[in-house]
Amino acid sequence: MKIAVLREAAAGESRVSATPETVKKFIALGAELGVERGAGEGASIADGDYEAAGAKVGDRTATLENADIIFGVQGPDPEALAGAKPGAWIVAGLNPFGAGSDGRARVDAYAAKGFEALAMEFMPRITRAQSMDILSSQSNLAGYKAALLAAAEYGRAFPMMMTAAGTVSAARAFIMGVGVAGLQAIATARRLGAQVSATDVRSATKEQIQSLGAKPIFVESVAGIEGEGAGGYATEMSEEYQKAQAELVSSHIAKQDIVITTALIPGRPAPRLISDAQIASMRAGSVIVDLAAESGGNVEGAVSGETVVKHGVKIIGAKNMAGTLAADASALFSRNLYNFLSAFWDKDANKPILDEEIGTAVRLTQGGKVVNQRLLG
Ligand code: NAI
Repeated sequence: MKIAVLREAAAGESRVSATPETVKKFIALGAELGVERGAGEGASIADGDYEAAGAKVGDRTATLENADIIFGVQGPDPEALAGAKPGAWIVAGLNPFGAGSDGRARVDAYAAKGFEALAMEFMPRITRAQSMDILSSQSNLAGYKAALLAAAEYGRAFPMMMTAAGTVSAARAFIMGVGVAGLQAIATARRLGAQVSATDVRSATKEQIQSLGAKPIFVESVAGIEGEGAGGYATEMSEEYQKAQAELVSSHIAKQDIVITTALIPGRPAPRLISDAQIASMRAGSVIVDLAAESGGNVEGAVSGETVVKHGVKIIGAKNMAGTLAADASALFSRNLYNFLSAFWDKDANKPILDEEIGTAVRLTQGGKVVNQRLLG
């Protein structure tokens, strides 16, 4: 059983899918590890550290040779997998709903080449899979960094300060979408001293917002999603709800200095939560961080990977925020992969044998075909 750890090829991707810690743990399970030279560079891990952990470091061809499992943070280019065994597993974040060549088309290419692609973002949200969940581990860091970035870009201070020269008032921060990223953004903005409010469509988040010392701002006139929502996920809201939400946001947002949006709906473009007119109502110098910019954006005018200024408001279109904390993001991502495969490791067969529930959820391709129901519609 050989696991190949590739150097990420996507522009700006600094994370790596295994660390010396998880290399050691996989070797203890009985696996052999090949690591592509320079794979850990962006996460400050030297080739020598992998070698010391027991991996073989080499070029891509040597790393892929005879590999049974290929790890990636993002999905590797199917054309660059020559030498891997037919039927090898690709275990990575595969962006299966993405439209471009790094999305659905790439999944189809894995199928055509006979690889078995396992999309780690399709991990079901069940208790036993919590430690395997890459969305959760990476969103947590993204939410933290979004609050830091907002503070760094804001031309004023976050906390209230009483000085001899007068008082600096606390920044008002509004977090839209209170999943894993939103909760961490609330906690971080609070630690930095801001006055924080937050909203979501799932009613279960109200209490979570309050428990972090922030103020919930919720649509009351139209019912939202009861409790956690299906599997912790939101769905697209009715027109009536969207209208009520827009009115609520309009009156609230005009008084905010910082807005961080994190709202996502799996398999759908991110919901539009902030219009250009609402941005125009904010005070000049305010900052908006759109963590959903890569999925179409919650904020009108946000551009993924860029900062644009509209009506004097800075709109930061976040891109791969977790990647800006590459060392921690890699450590957590790598542990997610280890927790996943080790939970199913069959000692006699010396390989992981997935169970029905998790296997069916994450497996995208098998036997030359796309097999996942979420992709087959
Ligand atoms: P997500 O990344 O899919 O969405 C972010 C947030 O945006 C969610 O809270 C969602 O309700 C909200 N949202 C969607 N549309 C919105 C709209 N129109 N307006 C306002 N907000 C909107 O969600 P995430 O962060 O992955 O987690 C959601 C839940 O799932 C959490 O309660 C989390 O604890 C749970 N979870 C459970 C896991 C497990 O048990 N294994 C693993 C990961 C998450």
